[in-house]
Amino acid sequence: MDQHSAHPDLSDPAVLSKASQAPACQFVIFGAGGDLTRRLLMPALYNLRLAGLLDDAFRIIGVDMREMDDGAFRSHLGEAMTHFVTERRGDSTARLDQDSWDWMSERLSYLSGDFANPETFERLGKLVSGTGNVVFYCATAARFFDVLADQLSRAGLLREEDGGFRRMVVEKPFGHDLASARALNASLLAVMQESQIYRIDHYLGKETVQNIMALRFSNGIFEPIWKRDNIDHVQITVAETVGVELRGKFYEGTGAMRDMVPNHIFQLLSMVAMEAPTSFDADAVRSEKAKVIQAIHPLAGRAAVHDVVRGQYRAGHYGADSVQGYRQEPDVDPLSSTETYIAMKLGIDNWRWAGVPFYIRTGKRLARRCTEITVHFKQAPFALFRDTPVNKLTPNIMFLHIQPTEGVTLQFSAKLPGPRVKLGGVSMNFNYADYFHEGPSTGYETLLYDCLVGDATLFQRADNVEAGWSIVQPALDAWDAGHIHVHPYAAGTQGPDESAEMLHRDHRSWLAC
Ligand code: BG6
Repeated sequence: MDQHSAHPDLSDPAVLSKASQAPACQFVIFGAGGDLTRRLLMPALYNLRLAGLLDDAFRIIGVDMREMDDGAFRSHLGEAMTHFVTERRGDSTARLDQDSWDWMSERLSYLSGDFANPETFERLGKLVSGTGNVVFYCATAARFFDVLADQLSRAGLLREEDGGFRRMVVEKPFGHDLASARALNASLLAVMQESQIYRIDHYLGKETVQNIMALRFSNGIFEPIWKRDNIDHVQITVAETVGVELRGKFYEGTGAMRDMVPNHIFQLLSMVAMEAPTSFDADAVRSEKAKVIQAIHPLAGRAAVHDVVRGQYRAGHYGADSVQGYRQEPDVDPLSSTETYIAMKLGIDNWRWAGVPFYIRTGKRLARRCTEITVHFKQAPFALFRDTPVNKLTPNIMFLHIQPTEGVTLQFSAKLPGPRVKLGGVSMNFNYADYFHEGPSTGYETLLYDCLVGDATLFQRADNVEAGWSIVQPALDAWDAGHIHVHPYAAGTQGPDESAEMLHRDHRSWLAC
């Protein structure tokens, strides 16, 4: 992929974004005083406004337990937005677009109330009455999701009348295990249609994740080799340098598996491994994703112990800086056995992938922040090079860089210049930033816009969520039965040695990330 230097039209966001304005809507945020609203939702809505995608009749109603009036709510969010603009651009002189913020600010109102109290919903009903379209965004702790659905239903606020839509956006974690995910789906589906529910996974808002589908299905050259005949194995890595920070309480009951695997990592896996959908219709795409996750070989019995590695970070270093171990973090049990690292070997039982291992790993306090998928192709026959100075061939690997680097790299062998046959490893590289204008996006813009226009392709359907949980459930059960040890690793390293050993058993190794 040669990098052309001049692509003026492609670097222009106005050319890239041909999207039309979303329909008028009241956007109700439960948990409006919280971190998610401040850090992600409001900046994403602001960016949609900047791109001209919000209707003049768009309104935001924040709902939370804390007492606050409209003015205090506006200034609370105004400060957060200023911070967002300067922080994202890495430029302390960057300024909020005052016209856009004024536009938003005029459309903000606040309602304080208890989510368990029907009176809150009566008051909310008065605020949204007369408007057709309403999105209810649950930016709250997971324990409120079914409560909110129930209250909204009792107040009659989920009824779609006169052509207006009523949609509910549900954040993660969607359940704590298979049983609770099923129960939550049942509660939501008891009061609204599947088409009204938007289960969000922010990984699907990442351009580079969406690009995996584009790469596979809009290019004729990759799909014919994208199968067991040509692919040796696939690695998926989501490595973070951050620890659990102030989320110890949440994380203690969650751990790396529940936090990352059935949701984010399975999204990445399904993008790489799914069959081509018959169209980009939301249900066509989601059905293919569900199928591939359902085809993952159950991690039952021996596999739940041998093909899973759990780790927990201890104190360590990043350069000269030392960091504390997980057990010393605030709100964490000093004897905690919650994993902050998980690696697994998975197999997919279908004709495309039978016999091709998918190795996945994710962890906190690892050496580098890096989300990456590598597709390792089978080697060419070596026979031709037997009587030459070449002693090994460079493996062909396609790197799908998700973050912080965004792009695609293909690694292959090339002849070194000179009279003798010698080979060297080279790579072709496509870097997103070289081609496309990089806006300070949060990754939520696409998802919010899609919800407003009623496109559920990038949201999880009930069966997608349950498929993910059913794959990891046998491993969770094995842990409950005390069968899997949690291996320590020093912060700032590649994770526990046992993870590397799991691949060595198969004569493979993790690519350094
Ligand atoms: C969240 C997890 O869903 O995703 C966090 O709860 C994790 O623990 C985060 O840090 C990672 O997201 P990103 O976009 O930074 O890769």
